[in-house]
Amino acid sequence: MHPIVIMDSGAGGLTVFEEISRMMPWLPVIYCADNAGFPYGPRSEEDVVHRVSHYLGILCQKHTPSLAVLACNTASTVALTRIRKELTIPIVGVVPAIKTAATHSRNKCIGLLATPGTVKRSYTDNLIEDFASDCEVIRAGSTRLVHLAENKLHGEPVEQHEFDEILEPFKSAQKKPDHIVLGCTHFPLVREELSKSMPDVTWVDSGEAIARRVSSLLGDITHTSDSGPVSEMSVNHLAVFTGENEALGSLARAFKMRGFDVLDHQF
Ligand code: DGL
Repeated sequence: MHPIVIMDSGAGGLTVFEEISRMMPWLPVIYCADNAGFPYGPRSEEDVVHRVSHYLGILCQKHTPSLAVLACNTASTVALTRIRKELTIPIVGVVPAIKTAATHSRNKCIGLLATPGTVKRSYTDNLIEDFASDCEVIRAGSTRLVHLAENKLHGEPVEQHEFDEILEPFKSAQKKPDHIVLGCTHFPLVREELSKSMPDVTWVDSGEAIARRVSSLLGDITHTSDSGPVSEMSVNHLAVFTGENEALGSLARAFKMRGFDVLDHQF
């Protein structure tokens, strides 16, 4: 059974991994955290595209995955076209679930909470124009929230007032959004804290939809490649990191706790 690759700047893609492994517990995963480039939010588009293309290229050569998930909105909104040209396997991107939020919103006011990169991308403008033209859309970009999510995952304490401050653009709006899109894969890690600050909001993420897409693509792949039956017993996940930093100890621990073997300095 060929593995799939999941890539993000850090641990945010674990929220996508969790949905995928809930649906397909037999599927081996190679998770790449580009911790040397973390966070992607403030980086230039060219820089993000270059990093993703470089590391996914190496991973595909080394591990021959059946598909790759770019579990990062900041990178997907800018790099998908290029990496789909460069790689021959299917690439699943993660982009903000604007359509879902707009469809379910009762008051036709939705929020987008993402990185500063994602909120200002033309890809995001197009999503809003195509799927939420009947809604008022309030956008808030935050790199601090990405760090808070990583900190929580590393077991460090996070303070509720920081979440209240980050959500201020939604809380202080005249018309408040009833649905807010978590347009960064890190943010479901702090859903509880976000909900405490805005208890009436429905938080929308893309994790489950991505898992369904992966399942449907793998169904197509296994039907056409005759790869035989799969054993649930033999599943092995591997986490690789692009760099070493002071946080790698706790980052590696978070992956180990989720059943990953951990390798650093793979590149
Ligand atoms: N997890 C990422 C996303 O979905 C990127 C966070 C960052 O590195 O800024 O956007």
